Amino acid sequence: MSPFASYFVTFVVLASLVGYILLLWGTSKIKIGKDDDEETGHSWDGITELNSPLPKWWFWTFLAVSIWAIGFVFAYPALGNNEGFLGWTKEKQYEEALQLTDKKYSEYYATITNGPIEEIAQNPATIQTGQRLFLNNCAVCHGSDAGGAVGYPSLRDSDWLYGGEPAAIIHSIAQGRRGVMPTQTDPLMVFAENNGLDKDTIIDDTAEYVLSLSGNGEPNAAGEKAYQNVCAACHAPDGTGLAAVGGPNLTDDIWLYGTGDNAVDNLRSIVLTSIYNGRQNVMPAHADILSEEKIKTLAAYIYSLSQENPSAQ
Ligand code: HEC
Ligand code: HEC
Repeated sequence: MSPFASYFVTFVVLASLVGYILLLWGTSKIKIGKDDDEETGHSWDGITELNSPLPKWWFWTFLAVSIWAIGFVFAYPALGNNEGFLGWTKEKQYEEALQLTDKKYSEYYATITNGPIEEIAQNPATIQTGQRLFLNNCAVCHGSDAGGAVGYPSLRDSDWLYGGEPAAIIHSIAQGRRGVMPTQTDPLMVFAENNGLDKDTIIDDTAEYVLSLSGNGEPNAAGEKAYQNVCAACHAPDGTGLAAVGGPNLTDDIWLYGTGDNAVDNLRSIVLTSIYNGRQNVMPAHADILSEEKIKTLAAYIYSLSQENPSAQ
């Protein structure tokens, strides 16, 4: 605050306090209402107003509060740029509160994250805290029950894009993930051309073969050849996926882009759309947003969910 503003504020604060005390003092000197039941002359519907002085206890309370207020404005930063003799600042108070909660939380997290993920995933306190952290940070994308949505993987099952070992889960959360499948129309066309296969049907053939991997389609020789040459690098020759690039398992009838209705027509459209348009997906990194302990707690929570529901491979 500029020096002028500072003096101005100081003057206004002190002058009003002094003025207030003088006013209080002055009014207490005026002798009114000598007789206890003297009336002011105001009367409403027969109810009259008495002209009585302030009760003594009231006067002394006012005075005590005013004197305390004078002490207060000198002790704390209330008079312009004056810092107050107690040296209090809101930044200092904030820092202290922050340090206190940090200490409290780090002590708490130390108790619930002490040990390997497999072990702390058995600790009810870890799971409970992990679930809260999940609801606050992850549920918007993965669903409040971690069941996922179209394009957002379910974290409740044991079907993993990038692996379900504790280290892989921690990596997914801390560093994030980027799943990229380029459009496959050109590679399939080139493959068909070079190998004497029908360019008009090669995409449908490949889709049919991919569907057959999960029991949703018929065997298809041309499609299988194309798959082994064009797709296997990222989805593995047997179709079970490749964690290194996040290529989904195509054999387990769990679909990242599934709507929950696994009718064959729906699945065919997922496969064809993937081939025509490719897929791009991002799991944002959380290392800058969440502490190491929080990430470990979340990983334990997710690990525990997949242990509860081991049915899917
Ligand atoms: C903005 C949306 C978004 C948020 C927020 C988000 N995720 Fe994800 N997450 C994704 C997407 C999308 C993928 C899949 C990435 C891919 O397909 O390559 C994913 C993948 C993952 C994976 C890997 C799954 C696998 O099958 O390997 C884990 C584990 C995970 N997320 C955990 C979390 C946790 C824990 C949080 C909260 C701290 C979180 N995610 C917050 C979108 C999100
Ligand atoms: C460069 C690696 C790569 C190649 C080559 C590739 N894919 Fe993919 N594919 C991926 C990745 C990564 C994803 C997951 C994308 C995501 O995270 O959203 C994916 C997703 C898919 C999906 C969606 C699966 C689901 O669960 O919803 C299908 C279907 C698919 N690929 C089929 C194919 C077919 C068929 C081919 C060959 C013509 C192929 N892919 C070639 C990497 C690849």
